[in-house]
Amino acid sequence: MEIKVVKTDSPKAKPTDETKLGFGHVFTDHMFVMNYDTGEGWHDARIVPYGEISLSPAAMCLHYGQEIFEGLKAYRTADGTVQLFRPDENFKRMNTSAERMVIPQIDEEFMLKALKQLISMEKDWVPHTDGASLYIRPFIFATDPYVGVRPADHYLFIIILSPSGAYYSTGLNPVKIYVEQNYVRAVRGGTGFAKTAANYAISLKGQAEAHDQDYEQVLWLDGVEQKYVEEVGSMNIFFVIDGEVITPQLTGSVLPGITRKSSIEICRKRGYKVTERRISIQEIADAYDAGKLDEVFGTGTAAVISPVGHLKWGDKIMTINDNKIGPISQMLYDTMTGIQWGKIPDEFGWIVKID
Ligand code: COI
Repeated sequence: MEIKVVKTDSPKAKPTDETKLGFGHVFTDHMFVMNYDTGEGWHDARIVPYGEISLSPAAMCLHYGQEIFEGLKAYRTADGTVQLFRPDENFKRMNTSAERMVIPQIDEEFMLKALKQLISMEKDWVPHTDGASLYIRPFIFATDPYVGVRPADHYLFIIILSPSGAYYSTGLNPVKIYVEQNYVRAVRGGTGFAKTAANYAISLKGQAEAHDQDYEQVLWLDGVEQKYVEEVGSMNIFFVIDGEVITPQLTGSVLPGITRKSSIEICRKRGYKVTERRISIQEIADAYDAGKLDEVFGTGTAAVISPVGHLKWGDKIMTINDNKIGPISQMLYDTMTGIQWGKIPDEFGWIVKID
């Protein structure tokens, strides 16, 4: 499929202070758009000026949430090269999410080509400042003007780009996390593994209550017994107990994070024992009491590697590694960001450069 290009005639001023970008507030000059209609498939791929879209108030996505999205980043290296980190994994996961949400499949190879063309046009928007990058948000949503419940026949696929800094305002400083005991994020057979808006909407109430108690995020437990740790919502979670790296296994209710997968691969290559298994919050509390809970950290595209300094479960407050980043979290952060920003060799073959 050909990609039509319409350039903006009113480019925006670029942010002057990249240290103050925050996350997801600023958007570039252009976006990628493509339509789907049953019978015709995906068509009319185009790169157009970033701008508002018009949608029927009856558009099905607004009523029943048939939507999926992805998140990845473009990084600028010291020599000015702009590069992506495992973008093929994002489009692959997008198709897994699409399958669950009855959204038509995309051509992963074509999407990578389209993304590279878009980033190439927007290269000047990729931040130059250490720790800042261009966050990429591809998403698909149902547009049929119809208020009955059924899979839609018409969709829009859009990619928008946002020069961004750290996701958490704390940067690499440890975050405070609260174990959610009232609400659940996902259940067996549900959509927990899919990157769909509903998984995030359902998390807001718990997150708001956590914020009220001065905690950044919540740690979700399984939706059946509320015993086993699952994920944080904006990131997957890892525990280091007595030198062993443990992360909840992918049961269908946990997002298969690309940073999660990469962290496991890095740790294994560095000789750490990594186990993916069910782990209960009680086991974590017991390890803490026995002085064996060495580190806790989250992994995510937006969150990168986020050490957890405080973990609150009911009345119990666990202070991890003296509220400081631990050696494995630091190693992962240095390796991951080193590869992403081209500071160290890409020994895994994860980088895709933009021409
Ligand atoms: C990402 O890490 O890219 C995500 O999509 C998570 C979101 C909460 C920002």
